[in-house]
Amino acid sequence: MSIIRVEEISKFIGEEVTIQGWAYNRTDKGKLVFLLVRDGSGFVQCVAFKGDLDEATFDQLTRLPQESSLSITGLVREDKRAPGIPGGYEVGVREIKFVQLAAENYPMALKEQGMDFALDNRHLWIRMQSQWAVLRVRATVISAIREWLDTHGFVGMDTPILTPAACESTSTLFETEYFDEGVAFLSQSGQLYNEANIMAFGRVYAFGPTFRAEKSKTRRHLTEFWMVEPEAAFCDLDQLMEIEEQYVTHIVQRVLRDRMPELKFLGRDITRLEKIAPPFPRISYDDAANKIQELYGAETDPEKKALLKFDWGIDFGAPHETALTALYEKPVFVYGYPTAVKAFYMEPWPGRPEVCKSVDLLAPEGYGEIIGGSERMSDYNLLLQRIHEHGLPEESFQWYLDLRKFGSVPHSGFGMGVERTVSWLCGAEHIREAIPYPRTIKRVYP
Ligand code: 4AD
Ligand code: MG
Repeated sequence: MSIIRVEEISKFIGEEVTIQGWAYNRTDKGKLVFLLVRDGSGFVQCVAFKGDLDEATFDQLTRLPQESSLSITGLVREDKRAPGIPGGYEVGVREIKFVQLAAENYPMALKEQGMDFALDNRHLWIRMQSQWAVLRVRATVISAIREWLDTHGFVGMDTPILTPAACESTSTLFETEYFDEGVAFLSQSGQLYNEANIMAFGRVYAFGPTFRAEKSKTRRHLTEFWMVEPEAAFCDLDQLMEIEEQYVTHIVQRVLRDRMPELKFLGRDITRLEKIAPPFPRISYDDAANKIQELYGAETDPEKKALLKFDWGIDFGAPHETALTALYEKPVFVYGYPTAVKAFYMEPWPGRPEVCKSVDLLAPEGYGEIIGGSERMSDYNLLLQRIHEHGLPEESFQWYLDLRKFGSVPHSGFGMGVERTVSWLCGAEHIREAIPYPRTIKRVYP
């Protein structure tokens, strides 16, 4: 008797199989019990007839608490109407072995729960279909990221989490005491180390957790999130955009190939994702600013209009990004942001020092910035000046300045937020569903 995984059930039509899992939902119809069983890889309907089982087992089944663990053996049938992920299959039960009868007071009953309650029970919430589906997509996104980078010359190179200095804004640093060395900060980004690593390996990527003591309570912000950061030597801004659009397209295609049942369960509009292919539109910050001002002018609803107000020089807010990306079907590159709203390390635009060679990738459908990147400053003196202008401690950046002394080259890189990307691909309402245990300003439990 083969123990199978539900995700592969289509290969076993007409065969007797065993499924090891948990009772997710049950409907009693007299002599029939429909049991929706989850095994970690999927959800499948199991149908038990009173006459096929011994009396004690059938009786137990009709009183089975949700989340009881069990092993079920039976015949796999195709049935278009059967619920599940992937749906369309059912198991005609021949034998059931109960492993543990769950306690009666399972908190995450299959009804609408308040969001705080759900988050307090995140350790159980992840068993539910919607959450399980999003986290399965997340795993595939991560696998696709590594797959593309590993096969395109990028060497995986981990960067430290405990760091001596800021990479992004000093206002979002988590600080911790560090023995006799004073304080250390949790990494906001591995980028500065990536820049050292490319001078040894050419193309690298870091992939790890990053931390921002971000006061924002939006549906796009976490305090701990996972970022993948590719960096390449001898790479300018245009080449960077080419890399990004190939890479993002690969991720979308892998998810479409491997996670269709999950996307369908989530009700994702697949046709929107199928349109993602290079080239992505590229617009300058100047043009984006003009477009937003036009949209502002045309908006008649006073509340919406107030949100769209925009002056050259400010960073885009969520309403600006949403309005701008609504003009396109694909993710959009916006390049050449004002130097004043971006980090210290960005290469200035030739002949326009008020603008820098940055590029953000904005996802469609209101999901906003999923990637931030730039060409990095390659000149020693200018970089030193920037470090001073930003009030950063020069001593902590000695090693970073060295990179401009010994074989400096034009180079570029980007950081993609895994949870923002997963939210977009799943059509999730809030970023906290895109990570197993979300950390926000109001939550470190469980
Ligand atoms: O734009 P950011 O701040 O860029 C950097 O940190 C660069 N040093 C990366 C690099 O070039 N190597 O962050 C990059 C991405 C954002 O586009 C977003 O997807 C995600 O990280 N991100 C967040 N995701 C969730 N919660 C937050 N608080 C985030 N802040 C940034
Ligand atoms: Mg950014």
